[in-house]
Amino acid sequence: MVKQHAMGALWSFVRSTIGLKVVMAVSGFVLFGFFVEHLLGMMLFFKGPRLINGYGSLLHYSAIVLWSARAVMILAVVSHIWTATVLYLRQRAARPVGYQRTESRTFSYAARTMKYSGPLVLGFVFFHLAHFTWGWDVTPAPYVEGDAYANIANSFQHGWVALVYVAGVLLVGLHLIHGGHSMFESLGLRHRRFDGLIRTVVGGVTIVAVVGFVFLPCAILFKLVGG
Ligand code: HEM
Repeated sequence: MVKQHAMGALWSFVRSTIGLKVVMAVSGFVLFGFFVEHLLGMMLFFKGPRLINGYGSLLHYSAIVLWSARAVMILAVVSHIWTATVLYLRQRAARPVGYQRTESRTFSYAARTMKYSGPLVLGFVFFHLAHFTWGWDVTPAPYVEGDAYANIANSFQHGWVALVYVAGVLLVGLHLIHGGHSMFESLGLRHRRFDGLIRTVVGGVTIVAVVGFVFLPCAILFKLVGG
């Protein structure tokens, strides 16, 4: 009975606007962490096939570890999209007609475009999973099971594939610049004195990651590596 009551209270909190923002911030933080970890993994490409494929097989070594990590990611993605949609619909329902324009001026470009960059990032991630994880024929490059190095090197010989990744990563960057910053606000961790520092750290990490992810396909396309 007490347990049921506690669950009910937790669920009411989660569905409140503050609760939704907290879930959104925490799931966003998990995804941000993956983005940084994924960059470190992909930078192994520059060290050659042995290391990057070793990293891939390490991930696939234990089905339990792989699926636990994937379960956390799937939960994070689903809760992030769910909270974003509910918050957006609530905000729209509460906003009187004609208010949007006045409000837009007070927000940065990245903040205003969250509702577009979010679904576009999702579209990019879906294409990316089809390409590298599921091995669907979405690019002209052949897919070699378990050989991340060959898959990456072959794919970015094609200009349009490199372009899709550059555009996708820039979108992710735009989304993270705003999301990463407002995450601290939602969790109540924002403070006037630390505001500049938080912006610098989140912005800095995002920019470094975006530069790394953009550099990789370009370096292969322009034959600096992967030949
Ligand atoms: C130049 C950019 C990128 C390259 C070359 C790249 C490469 C790869 C490769 C080769 C895999 C398959 C790993 C494996 O199954 O062994 C992978 C998986 C994945 N990537 Fe990327 N990636 C890039 C950018 C991104 C970005 C920007 C995101 C997210 C916004 C992302 C999200 C994912 C996810 C969710 C997986 C699936 C992980 C799993 O299998 O559980 N990637 N990536």
